[in-house]
Amino acid sequence: MILKNNTLARPFVKWVGGKTQLLSEIEALLPHFLYSSKNITYVESFVGGGAVLFWILQQFPNIHHAIINDINLDLINTYKTIKENPKELISILKQIEKEYIYKSEIDRKEYFLLQRELFNSKQEDIILNSALFIFLNKTCFNGLYRVNNAGKFNVPYGKYKKPTICDEENILKCHELLKKVEILQGDFSQTLNYAGKNTFYYLDPPYKPINKTSSFTAYSKENFTDKDQIRLSEFCDNISKKGGYFILSNSDVNTIDKKDSFFDDLYSMYHIHRVMASRMINSNASKRGKIYEIMINNSETKIRLDYGK
Ligand SMILES: C[S@@+](CC[C@H](N)C(=O)[O-])C[C@H]1O[C@@H](n2cnc3c(N)ncnc32)[C@H](O)[C@@H]1O
Repeated sequence: MILKNNTLARPFVKWVGGKTQLLSEIEALLPHFLYSSKNITYVESFVGGGAVLFWILQQFPNIHHAIINDINLDLINTYKTIKENPKELISILKQIEKEYIYKSEIDRKEYFLLQRELFNSKQEDIILNSALFIFLNKTCFNGLYRVNNAGKFNVPYGKYKKPTICDEENILKCHELLKKVEILQGDFSQTLNYAGKNTFYYLDPPYKPINKTSSFTAYSKENFTDKDQIRLSEFCDNISKKGGYFILSNSDVNTIDKKDSFFDDLYSMYHIHRVMASRMINSNASKRGKIYEIMINNSETKIRLDYGK
């Protein structure tokens, strides 16, 4: 059963492709050993905002060790700051919140641009950078993270009336959960070392674009290409060979174009489930809506999730 409760830890940033809406579908595909084994290692190789991470750690206290990874350095440094220096982070965020909240709209925008410049100047101080990262995430347009070719964050100001910049309670809850989490930055391939019998991976890569205009894959300077999707399918084969379990999410390109069997071919050895999800990546609100996604796993599951295939 999905625990929905304000007292639980949840993502400390908004993140494109966040999985809060798909937790029930993910839960239905979890491997059985999560419910019975005492000694579980959980790996999330594309952690993003961590919707699945924070949920699963609270749902399964028998996960004794967890490893998270993402290619986004600023995001990963913020996880590290929350794990190691939550109080200092909270104090800077409170200060920023005080400075921001009582300003007029025009002054807020100016303040936002100044903090964005400071963030892009890459201060040595990781705690300050983490605070700026959270501030920009809460006040920029749609909570996007986008960088230009020079790696500079360039999302515009977001015009929110009352953004929560410092959620002290949630940061402290995330801190508690991150105590048992090893935090890595880099390509997903470096997380293969952890695969073994009692290991479960949740893999949520940047999605393969369903058409040329709908995609959002620019979480970093490097795009996630079809070659990377193929590398990821080989990574899944290796997890399986080592006796580990995985669930992987991606876009369902086949529902849009029946001739496109990219994922059906890559993952023909596994179970492919088709699910519907709400997505917020289109900047035009009227074009946001339900899209099809696929979820692939390598273990028997309690429920089949396929919709009309
Ligand atoms: C769809 S998002 C994950 C969303 C996450 N499940 C959540 O709930 O917020 C994909 C993530 O993959 C990361 N990423 C992109 N390329 C990567 C790579 N080669 N290796 C590891 N992470 C990568 C991005 O920075 C982004 O955070």
